[in-house]
Amino acid sequence: MSVSDAFDEWARSGKDQGMERRHWHTAKHVLARMPVESEARSDSEQSSEERSDPRDEGDTVLDLGCGSGYAGRALRETKGAGRVYGIDAAPEMAHNASSYTDDPRVGFAIGDFEHLPFDDDSIDHCFSMEAFYYAQDPHAVLAELRRVLRPGGTFYCAVNRWEEHVHSHEWEELVGVPMLLWSEAQYREAFREAGFAVASQDRIPDTETEIPAESDFPTEDWETREAMVERYREYGTLLTVGVNTA
Ligand SMILES: C[S@@+](CC[C@H](N)C(=O)[O-])C[C@H]1O[C@@H](n2cnc3c(N)ncnc32)[C@H](O)[C@@H]1O
Repeated sequence: MSVSDAFDEWARSGKDQGMERRHWHTAKHVLARMPVESEARSDSEQSSEERSDPRDEGDTVLDLGCGSGYAGRALRETKGAGRVYGIDAAPEMAHNASSYTDDPRVGFAIGDFEHLPFDDDSIDHCFSMEAFYYAQDPHAVLAELRRVLRPGGTFYCAVNRWEEHVHSHEWEELVGVPMLLWSEAQYREAFREAGFAVASQDRIPDTETEIPAESDFPTEDWETREAMVERYREYGTLLTVGVNTA
């Protein structure tokens, strides 16, 4: 099964919203860290000259592998982003994402990581949550992001499957599609090779997923409580932040 077929199925059965709820535990912390410039206020204190500066329209953000599109909605509501575009390979995901908002400054399109429908230097920041590891050619994706991001633009790449995170290794088999398994050092190296400075790399814990009492283990999904604590509270999500050095 292809990645887009798998996620079309998820979108049709409403699993996109469950995924949103789970990912939000961590995504909100990633989004809060993004240096997104908001739309300038349009009150009388601002001169017309100031308003005619295109930068006053706020930053343009791309959500790579947007799923239900929650990040775009949140970036508009919490950061006043000027414009947000979500790209997803699964048509049903892009369709659902569009149906969850009527904000004209949030748009969704069917598209592939490796062929982004944007001009060179046209995006200020890119957010991607639990999607990068589906890339068929991750180096090509980084090159494409470097093309569309303006100099100084940032890529906030959050993944909860990577080499050091031992509890994420079996997911490829569970999801049934090929998935990348880079180490933390490989992420840094690939970012640098593509022309990004690595501004930071850290693990963001999920402190909200409920972990049952010791006496409830083993559960359907977890052999031991220790493993579940490790998965959520210790490994969590790996966030690598790249800055386009062009
Ligand atoms: C696990 S979901 C995460 C969705 C969302 N970012 C979230 O946090 O809930 C991964 C998404 O990436 C999309 N995707 C995977 N590979 C892709 C590719 N090569 N191009 C575009 N989208 C892709 C899938 O269709 C899916 O909707």
